[in-house]
Amino acid sequence: MPPIEKSARLQSLPRYLFAELERKRHDAEAAGKEVLDLSIGDPDLPTPSFILDRLTEHAREPRNHRYPTSAGLREARAEIGRWFEERFGVSLDPVHEIAMLLGSKEGIGHFPLAILNPGDEALVPDPGYPVYMAGTVFAGAKPVRFPIREGGGFVPEIRDLDSHVTARTRLVFVNYPNNPTGATAARPFYEELVAWAARRDLILVSDAAYSELYYNEAPPSILSIPGAKDRAIEFHSFSKTFNMTGWRIGFAAGAPPLIEALVQFKANVDSGAPQAIQLAASEGLKSLRVHGPALRGVYRERRDLALDTLRRLGCPMRTPGGAFYLWGRIPDGTTSMEFVTRVFDRTGVLLTPGTGFGLEGEGYFRIALTSSVDSLRRALQKLETLAPWKAPHASPTPISR
Ligand SMILES: Cc1ncc(COP(=O)(O)O)c(C=O)c1O
Repeated sequence: MPPIEKSARLQSLPRYLFAELERKRHDAEAAGKEVLDLSIGDPDLPTPSFILDRLTEHAREPRNHRYPTSAGLREARAEIGRWFEERFGVSLDPVHEIAMLLGSKEGIGHFPLAILNPGDEALVPDPGYPVYMAGTVFAGAKPVRFPIREGGGFVPEIRDLDSHVTARTRLVFVNYPNNPTGATAARPFYEELVAWAARRDLILVSDAAYSELYYNEAPPSILSIPGAKDRAIEFHSFSKTFNMTGWRIGFAAGAPPLIEALVQFKANVDSGAPQAIQLAASEGLKSLRVHGPALRGVYRERRDLALDTLRRLGCPMRTPGGAFYLWGRIPDGTTSMEFVTRVFDRTGVLLTPGTGFGLEGEGYFRIALTSSVDSLRRALQKLETLAPWKAPHASPTPISR
């Protein structure tokens, strides 16, 4: 039989970075090496019992054993609507302005297929979460990368965004708190963004998966900006907020035509999120006033420990305002991939090369703060054995803090 070819669209994607890293880790583990994995943003903490208890109860109700609707249960969406109003000061119509998702990745990946036509263009941040690009490519549209740079706090200038717009540009992805940089964006950025998008008649896609993981001020919702509800969709996740990555649950909120298009698309490819999970997760939002500060405290301790150590080792890093990542400059003048490979081979500590998030990630690496303080400390001790960071045949990159 001739070899079976994957679709051209699938083949045109860069290989999924985390799959490569997984393979490297498995090989090392198979060889009996200790691996300290700081590469993947998957919380080590369990789902809180206030959610698990509700989940068990709802799982026993026969009405939750049947196919869900594509948009999600009204009760769950109403619960989300109440939280959204309290948290962001935005009132949402649960029926037309909220849809449940099988995790925010599912919605982000499918949204371009519901909105874009072949040949359309979408602006995607570089570095950025790879799914913006993948969804755009699957829709036959063209991803156009815009840089987010350290000098600008990893938040783009609107005039820079504007320079990437063509007659085919339809939508723009933004993501704060940001993966991979940990940057946050304040209200004035969203105000400028929404005003600009209105002038250019563009759709805004805000990925707010880390909205509840912040260290200082609580990040705003783009939907709280006047005019945003005409042209923005915002993606939210329960994964990081409630350590629920394995349960696959999230939601989209925003302009009714955008929500409707996404739900219509989803009705053709999936049959909705399991109802018991929708109910337990949305009811969990009521406990966020207590759970949120405790969770943020856990990440703050890890963040400060890692920042202190890495800075002491000569590895400059901005203090992240949100999410659970540290984004550091490669200290020894090698490429991201060379650095990460060398660190892994010499210490068993697995970092993520910045280039996994786009070309602008060259010269950076990412640490996920999703291991216990003990594991993190152990990994940092191993990294200390490498310092001062010397690479063969390389001169240090000049770095300013
Ligand atoms: C920026 C960003 N958005 C969305 C997601 C998807 O999260 P989930 O599908 O678990 O809701 C992730 C996961 O790592 C992420 O980093």
